[in-house]
Amino acid sequence: MHPLEVNAVNCIDERPDPGCERVIMTQDELKAAVARAAFDYVERLIDDHSGEFILGVGTGSTANLFIAELAKISSSIAATVASSEESARRLKEIGIPVIDLNAAGILRIYVDGADETDDHLQLLKGGGGALTREKIIAAASEEFVCIADSSKLVPYLGTFPLPVEVIPMARSHVARQLVKLGGDPVYREGVVTDNGNVILDVHNMKIDEPRKLESAINQITGVVTNGLFANRPADLLLLATPEGVQTLRAK
Ligand code: 5RP
Repeated sequence: MHPLEVNAVNCIDERPDPGCERVIMTQDELKAAVARAAFDYVERLIDDHSGEFILGVGTGSTANLFIAELAKISSSIAATVASSEESARRLKEIGIPVIDLNAAGILRIYVDGADETDDHLQLLKGGGGALTREKIIAAASEEFVCIADSSKLVPYLGTFPLPVEVIPMARSHVARQLVKLGGDPVYREGVVTDNGNVILDVHNMKIDEPRKLESAINQITGVVTNGLFANRPADLLLLATPEGVQTLRAK
């Protein structure tokens, strides 16, 4: 039995395709549609709470489109916590306050994209290099809403290389341990994370048991964290498809 509940929450604008009933949408159009759906979801929540909650905001191109939507209600948002310096900059640019997580307490909701999701809403993240702050904010949030286009939904995680954030002096040591776990780590050259660390992208990693692998990689000395979000998966997935944005919950 499929472990997801699926409900269409709204429809995506259709681009006319003369002589053909198929709807053609680019990945950017799908990302824009899911960003709007996330905005609607958050706006309803803000109305219910009279603006009295702090919103966690993620990183990446889908999250950027969501941030752009937030500009419409910037004055109703009490404050945000951002998962990267880049997202913080974008939020401040549109007049939305950004505060430190330590000053925020438990966040009511966190909205962020993903590189891959399975149908348990276990995610693979970190393509943008912000995985550690993303994981911290997800852990500190009551509700984690993942926003993605349909290309991100996969039967098994791991086609996308798994990012691992590493303390710089431990890079070679960690790479050797990742090889022992069956992966092919590649140093993301020229990238320094917001935390001053480096990234190893692990190719060809067999991810049969995402929770176990997440914990095993995090046990390697020198690893800050890895991009598997399996022990704290998303609570809700807004998934943009050409037929509309679907709301998916893991059972
Ligand atoms: C950044 C992330 C992003 O959520 C992930 O890379 C997806 O990005 P995009 O929305 O650009 O496809 O984990 O560290």
